[in-house]
Amino acid sequence: MDIKPALEFLQQHIPFIPELAIVLGSGLGSLAQCQEAKSGTEISFQQLRGFPEQSVIGHSGKMFFCEFEKKKVVIQAGRFHYYEGHPMSLVVAPMRLYGRLGVKTVLLTNAAGALSSDKQVGSLMVIRDHINLQGTNPLIGPNVKPGPRFPDMTSLYDRDLRQQLIAAGSKCNLMLGEGVYVGVTGPSFETPAEIKAFRTLGGDVVGMSTVPEAIVAKHEGMLVAGISCVTNMGAGILNKTIDHKDVLDISETISASFERVAREFIREIAY
Ligand code: HPA
Repeated sequence: MDIKPALEFLQQHIPFIPELAIVLGSGLGSLAQCQEAKSGTEISFQQLRGFPEQSVIGHSGKMFFCEFEKKKVVIQAGRFHYYEGHPMSLVVAPMRLYGRLGVKTVLLTNAAGALSSDKQVGSLMVIRDHINLQGTNPLIGPNVKPGPRFPDMTSLYDRDLRQQLIAAGSKCNLMLGEGVYVGVTGPSFETPAEIKAFRTLGGDVVGMSTVPEAIVAKHEGMLVAGISCVTNMGAGILNKTIDHKDVLDISETISASFERVAREFIREIAY
């Protein structure tokens, strides 16, 4: 996908270059409904040439360019998933746009299933690292310069940002654990054997997004941070089935806590 028309549109319509981009995952949209976002500049994905309409429930498909705790921020409510059948180039197009605009830092959020009972449903986890099990890589194809052909992923999730997220959690009286996010394509949830295998591989949670965006954000030279909202125990851990509605209900319940942590994080973030 060619992002040039979308980039030109943004350059003409946004009031400032944001320092930070926050991508809100399933059910975590409350940050986009606050006063600051409402009084910012709203751009819907449909306004960007090459971007299709949003389809997944719980995702609204909008970018809000707004001032938050005295920082210039873009809040993205909704994202494109690989399981929707979109090409990877569209899945990561927002990251390419933020990179080209000059955004410095990206905070990616998602809903995820826990791989063991060490993690509690309703908790937030700072992503320390990820395992890409999507069977593809968003950088396949001609290299998008000036990013390197073989980018290093040793410290993909920035250490300082991780500490700042944990500190922001403490200020909100929330113990944010850290862990490894396993990225799969979905849309089927995992089998119990897969959940067991992912745990053995070293994963803590599993989800259907984030990994391609993190890789491309890094390729664009941005700093990356991530938070998973644990919405359910992975398949087979409890004696019950997994329902997308439960995933949304739980993330909506956690949304208010996430908003407090995000505010604290934005306030303290130093550029
Ligand atoms: N598996 C994959 N993705 C998810 C899950 C899960 O259990 N919960 C929320 N997103």
